Amino acid sequence: MDRIVVTGNGPLSGAIQISGAKNACLALMPATLLSESPLTLTNAPRLSDIRMMATLLRSLGAEVSSLADGKVLALSSHALTGSRAEYDIVRKMRASILVLGPLLARLGHAEVSLPGGCAIGARPVDLHLRALEAMGAELDLRDGYVHARAPGGRLKGARVVFPLVSVGATENALLAATLAKGTTVLENAAREPEIVDLARCLRAMGARIGGEGTATITVEGVDSLGGATHEVVADRIELGTYMLAPVITGGEVDLLGGRLDLVEAFVEKLHAADVEVTQTNRGIRVKRANGVVRAVDVATAPFPGFPTDLQAQMMALLSTAQGVSRLEETIFENRFMHAPELARMGARIDVQGGVATVTGVERLKGAPVMATDLRASVSLILAGLAAEGETVVSRVYHLDRGYERVEEKLGACGAKIERIAGEGSAEAMAEEGVS
Ligand code: EPZ
Repeated sequence: MDRIVVTGNGPLSGAIQISGAKNACLALMPATLLSESPLTLTNAPRLSDIRMMATLLRSLGAEVSSLADGKVLALSSHALTGSRAEYDIVRKMRASILVLGPLLARLGHAEVSLPGGCAIGARPVDLHLRALEAMGAELDLRDGYVHARAPGGRLKGARVVFPLVSVGATENALLAATLAKGTTVLENAAREPEIVDLARCLRAMGARIGGEGTATITVEGVDSLGGATHEVVADRIELGTYMLAPVITGGEVDLLGGRLDLVEAFVEKLHAADVEVTQTNRGIRVKRANGVVRAVDVATAPFPGFPTDLQAQMMALLSTAQGVSRLEETIFENRFMHAPELARMGARIDVQGGVATVTGVERLKGAPVMATDLRASVSLILAGLAAEGETVVSRVYHLDRGYERVEEKLGACGAKIERIAGEGSAEAMAEEGVS
């Protein structure tokens, strides 16, 4: 198993190129299942989760080729040969559930394994299922699988009111509604940039969609969709993560391709912590405004709120800020697993239910640590950049699911970071579903 060794090496400076968004790409790839024509995705991130989604799509009969060194994905589902997403893939990657809507819409039936729980929470998929049921799907849960059927072979448009905001359920319903008969209205829909990106791609394929980015999305179903070429939106979570690298170390870094509109709530908190964030022609430039980082209170919320996927990284920063911060996690019930690991590096964190109180310390100290999920592992790397001495992060396969060439990107800005190769690939190791 690979490990990453980080040695605190002072302020980082330089530039980091932001990749395409993992979570956007994972929703865009299943869109191929909706059409007989090719779909080309450019600016794709090179990550193990993306390779896993490609494996799943291939198992259904789609062709997926990786071009331009993995940055372009050429997908084609001219003829599908399967309609079953096996447990063995779904349990490793929760985003696999996103093939359910498109398969059902295109073929009129699908069997998809239920994902089960994961390290950050129970994460049920009831909202995905309820939305598809509202569109006429008949569902039977047996043997750990959802057996779904659209009577008459086609879903029908419906009004779907989500009782709580779900990114994945909105994506599944949106994908399915494109080919349903009639109009679908999704209310209390997720507004994340990944949803907007998916809607744009589907529209380029011929779908009739309006309102994405707001809480109400309207989809007029069409008989068939065509092909398209679509550029995957920049990864706002990778962006936010690397924005913290110059802040935690006291340096100055340009995030190339970064867009402020993707991270507004996060930037608001950085401003409150006394961090300077500037949009430039090339992206976003970040540095401390007055030498010290101040404590801030943060509560996670669906977009446009503060992203849960940046909570762990923010906790690493606030561990060394001046004062006491309060971090509240409202999306997932078990997403503070990084707190005890940060504590091993000298952080002072008290967790009570969904609230962590962080008292800033002068300096963190390197330690051997391990992480239980993707964002937790990168928070430990950020902490390691600012710590005195050596931090060894194990279970790096979590990191490889969502951060492309982390050691190269940070290394180019002066970080002392290296990967120690071990046995076993990321795919083989990723047993705990996160994405
Ligand atoms: C997406 O997960 C992301 N994954 C997650 O990123 C992200 O943390 C999450 O959205 C929230 O922003 C992908 O896009 C692949 P949800 P998703 O449905 O869609 C509950 C990362 O690190 N819920 O918006 O699964 C759920 O338990 C990952 O990149 C139900 O109760 O999240 C949670 O409490 C981790 N029933 C809340 O809703 C359902 O049917 C929001 O989850 C679905 C969700």
